[in-house]
Amino acid sequence: MSSTLWRNARIMTFSGPDPWGAIERGALLADGTQLKWVGRDMDIPRGLDVAVENDLDGALVTPGLIDSHTHLVYAGQRAAEFELRLQGASYEQISRAGGGIRSTVAATRAASDEELFASAAARLDQLAADGVTTVEIKSGYGLALEHERRCLRVARRLGRERLVEVRTTCLAAHALPPEYGDGADEDDYIDAVCGWLAPLHAEGLIDAVDAYCERIAFSREQTARVFDEAKRLGLPVKLHAEQFSDCGGAALAASYGALSCDHLEYVSAQGVAAMAAAGTVAVLLPGAFYALRETRAPPIDALRRAGVPIAIATDHNPGSSPTLSLRLILNMACTLFGLTALEALRGATVHAARALGLSDRGRLASGLRADFAVWDLEEPAELVYWIGGNACRHVVCGGTRLDIAQGAATSASVRA
Ligand code: NIG
Ligand code: FE
Repeated sequence: MSSTLWRNARIMTFSGPDPWGAIERGALLADGTQLKWVGRDMDIPRGLDVAVENDLDGALVTPGLIDSHTHLVYAGQRAAEFELRLQGASYEQISRAGGGIRSTVAATRAASDEELFASAAARLDQLAADGVTTVEIKSGYGLALEHERRCLRVARRLGRERLVEVRTTCLAAHALPPEYGDGADEDDYIDAVCGWLAPLHAEGLIDAVDAYCERIAFSREQTARVFDEAKRLGLPVKLHAEQFSDCGGAALAASYGALSCDHLEYVSAQGVAAMAAAGTVAVLLPGAFYALRETRAPPIDALRRAGVPIAIATDHNPGSSPTLSLRLILNMACTLFGLTALEALRGATVHAARALGLSDRGRLASGLRADFAVWDLEEPAELVYWIGGNACRHVVCGGTRLDIAQGAATSASVRA
């Protein structure tokens, strides 16, 4: 396959000794889906077989952003709950009254596969328009084998029909479905979930297994049973942990070598230490913190001191984080949680890749995927500083350019 060269760019590679891995007047050479060479324009090797050459006119280039935690496949919306919260109801109260996740489950079950695909594809395109090239998508609004399967199939289809890469996570242990009564049958539901993992895995639908360990969801013991089954199947685990209370979920997940623990507002010192020892990534979700008007931020200093890698994700979902801009979320990570611009950007690139168990992306270097975003910006900190707006000129996913302006987020996009 012939190569494509992009030159005259300010590249933040996140590789090498400099924290940004900055290359002024840099160039990238892609061969097929992979980067073949990254360096300074003046060092471009001679005699390359370059089919297409693009002058980026001094634009800023970063690795394609990675959204490592989303719930993208669902039907309906929950604006009415937003209004209830504005009137003083809490997320937990709404959830206990049968709203929340369960209301999205009802809408999702009633939607056709085609409707689920069309709405999720439109959302995925919006994420891509803001620089995202890899997205993790969780199930968890089906809560019955056939509906979890449908949602995971839709996620896989998005990965096939869109340029953006999709990783799927089974979050069947997200909430108790209505047919399991009110709390009494939680263990029976967990038994059922454990029984679904093997067939869904055999169908190639799952890359990882997640659960919601919280006083309004499942206990540590119930989570452990789901993780035991994931482990038996050789699937990596991650956990919604310590969002509203310290349930000891982070330490439990770390004991299973979890890829990530997500939320973590209430994580304890022991939880942080366990994550550090296990190499588990902390995925922080400032969108949910903001939307639910939480006041206790995750313990950023403790995570830093322990050397826990910090990732930042949208947590896109219709209840607690209805946003499709990862850049806006990076801004919130800085303004609400006190991260630096560099930490936030590493959290949507290098550390986000790690939260998904991926070592072939999140940085720009020879041999890695040719996934990058081209920004009409001068400084990398601008990615975090501007609140909203359009900054992304285009993204390149696996060596193929996706034209944001045309909304052409399909694999039929032009290679340029
Ligand atoms: O990550 N915490 C649980 N799940 C989602 C919220 C889902 C919903 O409210 O629909 C989250 O915030
Ligand atoms: Fe979530």
